[in-house]
Amino acid sequence: MKIVNARLRKKSRLHTLEITDGVFSQISAQDGPVVCPQGAIDANSQLLSPPFVEPHIHLDAALTAGEPSWNQSGTLFEGIERWSERKPMLNETDIRQRVLRTIELLVQNGVQHIRSHADTSDPSLVGLKTLCALRDELKDKIDLQIVAFPQEGLLSYPNGLALMEEALTFGADVVGGIPHFEYTRELGEASMKKVIELAQKYDRLVDVHCDEIDDPNSRFLEVLACEALFNGLGSRVTASHTTAMHSYDNAYCSKLFRLLKRADINFVSCPTESIHLQGRFDSYPKRRGLTRVKELNEAGINVCFAEDSIFDPWYSLGNGKLLRSLDFGLHICQMMGYQDFESALDFITDNGARTLNIQHRYGIETGKPGNFILLDGADDYSVLRRQGEVLLSVRHGEIIMQRTPARITTPAWIQA
Ligand code: FE2
Repeated sequence: MKIVNARLRKKSRLHTLEITDGVFSQISAQDGPVVCPQGAIDANSQLLSPPFVEPHIHLDAALTAGEPSWNQSGTLFEGIERWSERKPMLNETDIRQRVLRTIELLVQNGVQHIRSHADTSDPSLVGLKTLCALRDELKDKIDLQIVAFPQEGLLSYPNGLALMEEALTFGADVVGGIPHFEYTRELGEASMKKVIELAQKYDRLVDVHCDEIDDPNSRFLEVLACEALFNGLGSRVTASHTTAMHSYDNAYCSKLFRLLKRADINFVSCPTESIHLQGRFDSYPKRRGLTRVKELNEAGINVCFAEDSIFDPWYSLGNGKLLRSLDFGLHICQMMGYQDFESALDFITDNGARTLNIQHRYGIETGKPGNFILLDGADDYSVLRRQGEVLLSVRHGEIIMQRTPARITTPAWIQA
């Protein structure tokens, strides 16, 4: 496959790229636009980017909002209750159909790398087992990492620990946790130590739903980061949500950031989900409920954006468009300066790849897999501002998605 007249992120000149045997074999700068040779793809000066990375989604729960009842309060905790009512209705066929429909949405919007949580607070583990089977079936088509996620508590849910071990033995890629949902602070702390212990025992990554609450006293992040540091796991560990950090006082945060920088863990923020679920116990003013993305990023700590939910008991919108999550995130976190826009796509591309620990096989570089997307826009800023559509998605040199942009006719008086 040959692509000409492509813009690459953070580079001014147009480029020609070649993919041979599924791998980028040549990438060279052009002196100017060239005539597209027969059989090649003309990028028409549009932005060619590494595929989008969805680092945090719940595929097992996707497309179940309102079944059997709706989350009326809009709180995280009612979401967990509504999901526990839906769980007895789960079976392999139901999960498989919904997961494939959701992956289709993500692929249509430029995603090729996904980390999905799968609920292990279920004696049958049907969600986790179905997701692991799909991961293996689709491995040549899309990257899927499965987190064994103890939705109702690792230590508080009956047999939670045994179910986690069963999930890891079955083949889950990542150990999950939910310390703020354990019955007590002591159980929450113990669960963080157990998560790190299991990651070492089974040689897996870690991704914890950590402090997803407005409670400024929810401080399990420091336990997770400290355990990651002391056990040398660093970048193999991710803290998702950390919304309580929004409500920590600045003096504590200053101390905390010293640890976070040393620990070198990753962060995932889910802007649409958190602005919806958090602040629900406030009158006015209402907290925004997102973690300190701007400050983490400025401190050189890896942070990325995710969608978290698509039409499920926690969030009944969502459409697979990470550009939408990015747009929300930059607004809510007040990252609206020119320099923020220039590198905005980092939050849904490179930073997500680092979180998934796939950076060694991710990016537009010779020798790396020939995976890319073509976006309707010339650079990060224009793609973000226009919410540019994904025109093409290529994996290992094969087109997996192609979109023909809508043609819009306007009257002559409005045309400049
Ligand atoms: Fe989540």
